[in-house]
Amino acid sequence: MSEKDKNKSIFTRSIHSGEDRLRYADAITTPIVQSSTYSFKDSKEIEAYTKNDKIRFEYGRYGNPTEKVAEKRLADLDGAEDSLMFSSGMMAITTTILALVQTGDHIVITDDCYGKTLEFCRSYLKRFGIECTIVPFGKYDVLDSSIRKNTRFIFSESPTNPYLNVFDLIKFRKIADKHKVITIIDSTFATPFNQRPLEFGIDLVIHSGTKYLGGHNDILAGVLLGKKELVSKVRDLHKSMGGVIDPHCCYLLLRGLKTFPVRVKTQNENTLKIAEYLEKHPKIEKVYYPFLKSHAHYNVAIEQMKGGGGVVTFTIKGDLDASKRFMDALEMIYIAPSLGGVETLITHPATVTYYKYTREQRYNLGIVDNLFRLAVGLEDPDDIIADLENGFAKI
Ligand SMILES: Cc1ncc(COP(=O)(O)O)c(C=O)c1O
Repeated sequence: MSEKDKNKSIFTRSIHSGEDRLRYADAITTPIVQSSTYSFKDSKEIEAYTKNDKIRFEYGRYGNPTEKVAEKRLADLDGAEDSLMFSSGMMAITTTILALVQTGDHIVITDDCYGKTLEFCRSYLKRFGIECTIVPFGKYDVLDSSIRKNTRFIFSESPTNPYLNVFDLIKFRKIADKHKVITIIDSTFATPFNQRPLEFGIDLVIHSGTKYLGGHNDILAGVLLGKKELVSKVRDLHKSMGGVIDPHCCYLLLRGLKTFPVRVKTQNENTLKIAEYLEKHPKIEKVYYPFLKSHAHYNVAIEQMKGGGGVVTFTIKGDLDASKRFMDALEMIYIAPSLGGVETLITHPATVTYYKYTREQRYNLGIVDNLFRLAVGLEDPDDIIADLENGFAKI
């Protein structure tokens, strides 16, 4: 993207960024280059490639042309020097972490991160002699005092699941600067439409592209964004780990990205409307949405984010049985994990995500029986509300 294009809006850049306008058969869409290997014309071409004179492709696990377009577009949207795509969000997280640590290192992660990220840091890294301190989300003094000489990075997420806690990126950066430690943010729930952590001085940003970036509940993808030097380190390990994204999936991601800002803008508006409706509803106990004044992190959210996102969490006035009756009466809303797609999805963490936990363990983590997470899609918000009413009638 040229300097003059950088002034274009996110709506325009989501369609055009990264695209090479010279195309096979003059098509206006990026081709799916479905090839696992790439040929060299002669020994001269090999030489140019190995000397790094020419950017080209060699073998599918090291990258493909469709992926390169997606990487360029995502780097532009998040304001990153470099980016790297993966076959899933978890592949991006685990490969990045492994590339940055070695035996004897220590890492710090906040306790409100995605469950599988926490599990990887808590259980698997230990096997390789890497210590992990898990600090309570939002306790910035504890975060500060937990950093040691051998701390390689601090990792957090914002907003978080399911209570949509918002991390103060300015405080995060200040702590990191004091200790000269790498900062990583999983920004899946925020997306580059609502927040660009790199502009706050965060070193690395990760998204599960499975959610808002793809936007149609039909792909798995992940992306790492940030400074060239750090992303390059991860790129080397990525080639060995092999969690590459395939060209067809990249095409679907590129297609999803064209409508990404339109979708997220609408999801912000519709979710706020639904959150306000829920807050006034007699069958509702409490609503959690960062752009509601009642949210604990409302001030940080409105200062550091453009919109509250497409997820709203709430507790109903009722027990586990009432919660099941509410969920079972929904007709349009799918009972399914995930978020960020065009279909509205609802999850009941007590019976799905935390089904292996005892009630006491769940309650210690704030996962109460009557808790629901609604990932708002692109249906008319009045139709979503009408379906929620089907459920509330059964409580
Ligand atoms: C915040 C967050 N980060 C990472 C992931 C993992 O992404 P993926 O499912 O694409 O591996 C998820 C999945 O739900 C998530 O919610």
